[in-house]
Amino acid sequence: MTGPERSPSAVAKVRHEVEERGYVLLKTYRPNTSGEEIASALGKVLTLGEGSPVHQLRPTPKDQTTPNTYSGIYGLDVFPFHTDMAHWRHPPRYIMLRCLVGFEEVPTLLADGAEIVREADDNVLARALVQPRRPVKGRLPLLRIFQPSEGFGLIRWDDKFFRPASRAGEHGVERFRAALGTVSKHSIALVERGDTVVIDNWRMLHARSPVPPACEGRILERAYLEQLH
Ligand SMILES: [Fe+2]
Repeated sequence: MTGPERSPSAVAKVRHEVEERGYVLLKTYRPNTSGEEIASALGKVLTLGEGSPVHQLRPTPKDQTTPNTYSGIYGLDVFPFHTDMAHWRHPPRYIMLRCLVGFEEVPTLLADGAEIVREADDNVLARALVQPRRPVKGRLPLLRIFQPSEGFGLIRWDDKFFRPASRAGEHGVERFRAALGTVSKHSIALVERGDTVVIDNWRMLHARSPVPPACEGRILERAYLEQLH
């Protein structure tokens, strides 16, 4: 869809489309407005610690960042499919990504968890327990790959930071991986300043394409939203 204006009904269309498809792309949406203002126009912004809730994402080579992060592990290579903050009991519901400097060559890829759940068998996934590979704040919480609820529920996926925590977990992880390999992928290129995508992080998985040397200047803004207006 093209960018909505500021009216409440236009923002409601964003919510509707995210409910239907799991994400919405707004092309050159109010390009001269700050990420903070756009995020709060779209929904209830989640504040993580101090500072702005809008964070700048820039491609970073492996050796220039903390080892235990996606950039530290993958650098400028492809980031595999995952959901954000998958180790939280209550991961952020929505992710807003907004382009400051973009490139056609570095699309964000999306996979629909609703398709994966259908393909992999929702009962198998709902029984599958996983655990972070390393303690989070001294703890190793047991978490389900899929928590069904009215509507859809919540999926969490992070193959790099999780491992199965039971036999049912192993089975679920295998089924999930296989289904993820077969479902269709949506390619979203944030190219122009203001291009904005809102993703349901409880339903959709996302991945980043590799960053060629000419595209290292890419800058996105990211904010998490608890709900959409
Ligand atoms: Fe992510």
